[in-house]
Order: sequence, then C-alpha cells, then structure tokens
Amino acid sequence: MRAQGEVHDHDGLGVAVAVSHAACSAVLRHRSLGRIWSDAAPVEAFTSFNLLHRNSLLENEPPTHGRLRRLVAAAFGRGHVERLRPWVFELADRLVDELVTEIKEQGSADLLAHVAGPLPVEVIAELLGVPQSDRFLLQPWSNAIVKMYEFGLAPELRAAAERAAGEFVAYLRELIALRRVSPGDDLVSDLVAVTDTDGARLTEDELVATAVLLLMAGHEATVNVIGNGVLALMRHRSQWELLVNDADLPLAVEELIRYDSPLQLFERTATAEVEIAGHVVRPGEKIAALLGAAARDPLVFASPDELDITRSPNPHLGFGAGIHYCLGAPLARIEVEAALSALRTKLPGAVLAAEPRRRAEFVIRGLHELPLSTDAGA
Ligand code: HEM
Repeated sequence: MRAQGEVHDHDGLGVAVAVSHAACSAVLRHRSLGRIWSDAAPVEAFTSFNLLHRNSLLENEPPTHGRLRRLVAAAFGRGHVERLRPWVFELADRLVDELVTEIKEQGSADLLAHVAGPLPVEVIAELLGVPQSDRFLLQPWSNAIVKMYEFGLAPELRAAAERAAGEFVAYLRELIALRRVSPGDDLVSDLVAVTDTDGARLTEDELVATAVLLLMAGHEATVNVIGNGVLALMRHRSQWELLVNDADLPLAVEELIRYDSPLQLFERTATAEVEIAGHVVRPGEKIAALLGAAARDPLVFASPDELDITRSPNPHLGFGAGIHYCLGAPLARIEVEAALSALRTKLPGAVLAAEPRRRAEFVIRGLHELPLSTDAGA
C-alpha cells in the first residue's frame, strides 16, 4: 500500500489510513486533526464508558487537553517515576524468578501470565496508590473496556465494556473518597489535592477519568511491548544473544517498540479541511495513522523489516507525536528495560516452548500467551 500512495481510503474501516512515516507524523501533529470524542450509542446504554472518555485528557483537545495534561504531568513530574525505578527492577527480578521456577518445575511457563502482564499492572497500581488487595480487579476491567477501540465489536462485548466501566468508575469514586480522608504519597492523592484546592481546574469526573486512563494506558501497551518484543527476540536468535551479551537496553527497547508496535491505529477527526500527502480530509471526516506501517517505512528506517536492537537513531512513532505524545513514555521505558534486564540475566537460554497465538484484535496488537522454556545448555 505504501508503495502505491501515502494515504488510502479504507472501505472496511470507513476511514482514510495514512501508511507512510511522514503522513502518520503529519496526522498526529496537525492542529486541525483532533481527537474529537463522540459518545458510544445508544448513550443511555454507555453512561460510564462515555463519562470516562468524555472527561479524559486523551479524548480532549485544547484548551481542556492542556489543562488536564498540565495537572497530570505536574503530578508525574514530582519524582514519582524516578522514585519507582529501583522498585520496578526488583519487581521484574521477582517476577522473572517465578517464571524460572515454573519452567524448572513444569518444563515451560507463560511470559505473559508471569511477567509481561503483572509487571505493568503492579507498577501503575503502585503509582496511583491502588491497594495491593484490589489490584487483581484492574486488568479484567481494562481488557473489557479497551475492546471498544476495535472495529466491528459484538454486542455482548460492548455490554461487557460498559459493565466494566461502571465498576471501574464506582471503584475509583471509593478510592478517591478514601484518599480524601487519608492521603498517601501516591498520584491519586496528589490529584485529589488539586481537585479540592482548586475545583475549577479538575472536576471529580475528570479526576475519575484521569485515574482510569492512567490505569488502562499504563499497562495495555506495555504488556504487549514485552510480549511482542520477547517473541521477536526469540525468533531472531543473534539479536537475543546480543542482548544477553550486554547490548544497550534503552536502544533495544526502542527497537522492540518499532519492530512490532503494540498500538497500531490512532484516529483523528478533521475540524477544518486538511490535506495530508495530497489526500483531502473534510471537516468531520476521519483519518487514521497506522503506526505499524510508519514503523517499517524504508524512507526512514534502513532495512526496516530487520530487527536490529542497536538501531540508532530510531525515530519511531510508537509513543505518538504532537500534543497527545505518550505521557507515560519514561515509565514505560523503565518497565520494558527492567523486564529485559531480568530476563537476560536469569534466563539467558530462553527459547520458545511452543508457537504463541496472536490475539484477533488489531488496534491493540498482542499475544494470548508466550510459552518459554530453556535450551539444553542453559
Ligand atoms: C510501551 C508502552 C506504551 C506505548 C507504546 C504507549 C503509546 C502511546 C501513544 C501512541 C499515545 C498517543 C495516542 C494518540 O496520539 O492518540 C499515548 C498516549 C498516552 N499514554 Fe502511552 N504508551 C505506553 C505506556 C504508557 C504508560 C506506562 C502510561 C501511564 C503511566 C501511559 C499513559 C499515556 C497517556 C496518559 C496518554 C495520553 C496523553 C495525552 O492525550 O496527552 N502510556 N501512549
């Protein structure tokens, strides 16, 4: 598709799709292409789902976006992320130890169930101050809600998404009430303080939506970067060996995000007539950036279909671009580094124990499981 043009009308998706790096970058940065939220319908059947999105910084444009983003960025900036770094590395070590034990006992073990899944959930829950005993609730809620971002979703899954959103909202309202009476050194307490001292800057619904956005954005992508990334390394043995022999971790993380993007598609709606690579988008029409296609554009990446964990520079768009650029990128990088660091130290002989199954969804691209074992010499 890219060879035939940078933007195509896609009948199946009902939107234009940008497939080159330049066109995707332009879609994400253009100020007349915005994330314009339209409620899921019928609205009476999606009250909680719509409340969460209507009030989220990801689904708003200036000036609301800037106000919400500044507040959350300030809370993030207060050392929360760097404070967590050593703890994230310890957590990754502990989770990989459990994986290794299971491999020893059972012959193989699932990286997603033992490491890639729990690591980001634990980290974001810790950051927000979700009590340990409630953390098991987060992933099922989030998984049900994000199904709504896929195309052509079955009615029962839409209903499940709304149910999960309702429970998530109710849970957050309780947690907020708790932090109001006994604040901690977590992000929810910081955001509660902003709401209470200057309610005009952050409403209670915005607080709930922001916390839920962080809890969801904080792990859905990271799980799949670790899963897709380790799969790519298992399939490219020389790259895995390079990693085990002390290759630079930050460069490897960027390449894994580029090589098999966990997030494939982001839509924008035109608020004025816009031209992207010769394609006109009229007001109200949508265009999507296909990040996986941008990541393999030969005009930007030499040998784009090759995995090269030493690739530098690596200007992938995996964290987005423009005003919605990923707020959690520094945290995500620490998490993936921690997982790779623990794996290369404790499981240098890792091999695929069976062919993993890809999940059917494509907006969020990931695996059902990633069974690992060790080669004979390990
Ligand atoms: C490797 C893992 C991650 C990837 C690949 C990723 C990717 C992205 C992308 C592509 C966007 C832009 C969406 C758009 O332009 O429409 C985004 C936004 C966002 N991400 Fe991430 N993300 C990751 C991890 C995280 C984590 C760990 C957090 C939270 C701590 C987080 C929080 C956010 C938030 C709050 C936004 C919205 C920013 C805004 O609208 O201004 N992300 N992310």
